[in-house]
Amino acid sequence: MATHSHEHTHHHSHGGAPTQVLMAEHELILQALDALEKKVAAVQAGAAPDRAYFDRAVSFLRGFADKCHHGKEENLLFKRMTERGFPVQGGPIAVMLSEHEAGRAFIRGIAEGAAKLGADPAAARQIVENARGYIDLLRAHIGKENNVLFPMADRALGAEDQAYLAKEFERFEAEETGAGVHEAMLKLLGELKAGAQ
Ligand SMILES: [Fe+2]
Ligand SMILES: [Fe+2]
Repeated sequence: MATHSHEHTHHHSHGGAPTQVLMAEHELILQALDALEKKVAAVQAGAAPDRAYFDRAVSFLRGFADKCHHGKEENLLFKRMTERGFPVQGGPIAVMLSEHEAGRAFIRGIAEGAAKLGADPAAARQIVENARGYIDLLRAHIGKENNVLFPMADRALGAEDQAYLAKEFERFEAEETGAGVHEAMLKLLGELKAGAQ
């Protein structure tokens, strides 16, 4: 018998240390990566690529993983860390930023491949290669943040910084991400998971 699944429909920014908020978002991103990986494996096994699915995946990765999540890291957490003495260049933050950039390039590749489906025989391969690149990159990236960078941040940032970031995360969600966007992204994630079955 299936156990009752506990769906988190509301996870963001309310309470909890800022790095805990970001780690909860990592869990959602990892769920999307698992779904995308299944869909890509199906294409590699010969299934016709489902353009609508890959378009939705791009919407989620851009809207949630990049704008909402990497936005908070780059504009708030990493920024405050550099204000507290972490190097901007040549350190772990620089690595994280360059991985965010590499991720954007992979997402562009998926989007371009999806747009060319039906018109260009190389489109499916472009989707597969970029999706695989993104999945590998982001899993490793999330591992580094969870296990190395965020613990470093929590050791370096005092209570005042933590309170500042918690408040700024709330503001970022309200102003930069926009009301209702989180809910829309969670709905999209649900569709990605259902569509990969
Ligand atoms: Fe990151
Ligand atoms: Fe992250």
